[in-house]
Amino acid sequence: MSSTDIPARKREHLEVVATSEVEAGGAGWSDVHLVHSALPRIDLADVDLETEFLGRRLKAPLVIASMTGGHPAARRINGVLAQAAQDHGLAMGLGSQRAALCDPALEPTYAVAREAAPTAFLIANLGAAQLVPQGEAPAATPDDLRRAVDMIRADALAIHLNFLEESVQTGGDRQAAGLREALAAAAAASPVPAIAKETGAGLSRQSAIELAELGFRALDVGGLGGTSFAVVEAIRAERRGDRRGAALGRAYRDWGIPTAVSVVGALAAGLPVIATGGVRSGLDAAKALALGAALVGVGRPLVRAALQGPEAVEAWIAQFLEELRVAVFLSGGRGPRDLAAVPRVILGDTRAWLADLGY
Ligand SMILES: Cc1cc2nc3c(=O)[nH]c(=O)nc-3n(C[C@H](O)[C@H](O)[C@H](O)COP(=O)(O)O)c2cc1C
Repeated sequence: MSSTDIPARKREHLEVVATSEVEAGGAGWSDVHLVHSALPRIDLADVDLETEFLGRRLKAPLVIASMTGGHPAARRINGVLAQAAQDHGLAMGLGSQRAALCDPALEPTYAVAREAAPTAFLIANLGAAQLVPQGEAPAATPDDLRRAVDMIRADALAIHLNFLEESVQTGGDRQAAGLREALAAAAAASPVPAIAKETGAGLSRQSAIELAELGFRALDVGGLGGTSFAVVEAIRAERRGDRRGAALGRAYRDWGIPTAVSVVGALAAGLPVIATGGVRSGLDAAKALALGAALVGVGRPLVRAALQGPEAVEAWIAQFLEELRVAVFLSGGRGPRDLAAVPRVILGDTRAWLADLGY
């Protein structure tokens, strides 16, 4: 693997995500309603958010989504986020580790997460597009996967699917022939459970079932409705005078399967499902869990908070967890798993999507 412009691109992603309007909206949460129980069973203070994921206990069903690493500023951000993961017993994903595989001097920008979070559930990350040859660049090898996992002593490895972003990105990696075989080989070679992860366009039921057959042990639906990498890359393309990418990214802002719909579809694979994409409150999270997700993932709000500092991250997570606890309390449950049994009503576009797709 070789590439010299990765750190600059990663830094620019952070800057664009922090300063520009890049959210697609429409994840579907406003269409999902949990039926209120006037008769809670336990004290609000006794609601326990602990849950299990891939054989490990988490203190709450929240993953800090895979975001950054590979440039100097990422070290501080990953340190802040990892400290929060450790303090709250959460899971955390690191950004794509390709940069450090190309340049080992960048490893500390990822490894800092394990230093700050010695016992947290950490998820290594590599791109599916890097599992197949891209022009001159050879495919990642099983040794690359092991190095990524070892770098942070990861508990799982996420392989991200971002072909929408690659299609828009100036000079993106657009070769995908042989992808399924490469994914199966990667899932088999990974020394820890492999998670297949979309990054904003969602997983269909069919994709989810195929990914299970290819050997993945969990799915992150990465649905439409939150951070749009079509828009992020459109902004970057505009800056470079790349009219193709700029127009394409704007046109594809709403491409994809809304997160709520994708969660329902992905359940058919029979694997634990992470609902990421536009989860913005503990109530959104409760709705995702009621639809059957095992965990929710949150990206942009947490990286923006991390850029402000640890206090902002702490405040965001505390508010989020309190909102989730109240949803469990008001729907008559004791913990997050009880949400899956809560009666729910699905209206609007989400209902139409589900009906039309037969989910
Ligand atoms: C700045 C930034 C960088 C990201 N980089 C990665 C990445 O390297 N690998 C990956 O799997 N997902 C990456 N993502 C996608 C997130 O993990 C997540 O799927 C996406 O942001 C949707 O969640 P959100 O709507 O809560 O932001 C990135 C997101 C952001 C905001």
